[in-house]
Amino acid sequence: MSIRCADLAKVYEGGKSGWPALRGVSFEIKTGEFVAVTGPSGCGKSTLLNIIGLLDEPSGGKYEFNGRNVVSMTDQERSEARLGQIGFVFQSFHLLNRMSSLENVCLPLLYAGIDSREMKVRASSLLHKVGLKGKERKTPLELSGGERQRVAIARALANSPRLILADEPTGNLDTASSREIVDLLFGLNAEGITVVMVTHDKEIAARAGRNIKLRDGRLEE
Ligand SMILES: Nc1ncnc2c1ncn2[C@@H]1O[C@H](COP(=O)(O)OP(=O)(O)OP(=O)(O)O)[C@@H](O)[C@H]1O
Ligand SMILES: [Mg+2]
Repeated sequence: MSIRCADLAKVYEGGKSGWPALRGVSFEIKTGEFVAVTGPSGCGKSTLLNIIGLLDEPSGGKYEFNGRNVVSMTDQERSEARLGQIGFVFQSFHLLNRMSSLENVCLPLLYAGIDSREMKVRASSLLHKVGLKGKERKTPLELSGGERQRVAIARALANSPRLILADEPTGNLDTASSREIVDLLFGLNAEGITVVMVTHDKEIAARAGRNIKLRDGRLEE
């Protein structure tokens, strides 16, 4: 797992000359790191995470994911890399409320073409791993915020990703649940998964091995 960005830029369409969200950002992230991305609202954190996660493309500069320049990847290669190597966790969970927690975790396995018996075995062992044994049949609306985020993390782990990208995963949680979710992410990192997490929380950022600080679309010295 490696991430290398050189002079990365992102300009969103709009206005006369567009909205510059990233203005030349260079850094590297290596296997096994735990990196916190910090900075004031609007500085480009989510934009950066979306580009790292191959959900969006840079408008300038270079991004190499595992040594491949992402602009040379086809859409299919990008979605395969996303599905097979990257797990996403969002502030607002992005779970399907009409499905049980088990079914939510099964979804990526379904896309990956895993057979339905193995899918359920794997999904329930992942729910167990994140501390939700016995809650397989509950829907997200029947779970607490912290529990919902655990389901989202189990789902992110479904295809055994090497990289987890988390955009303010504790932004909607109380202090106690935040701590539990962050501990869970640190536990996954200890198992060798690279974690890149956007956070506004100074204490959480201080626990990370490294911080990438953004301000106005640039790295802060
Ligand atoms: N789809 C979009 N179209 C146009 N401008 C956008 C779009 N998404 C983000 N922006 C702009 O790009 C800049 C960076 O946004 P981004 O969402 O990356 O910030 P952020 O650091 O994640 O902020 P927050 O902490 O509030 O989540 C902001 O000025 C924002 O208004
Ligand atoms: Mg954001």
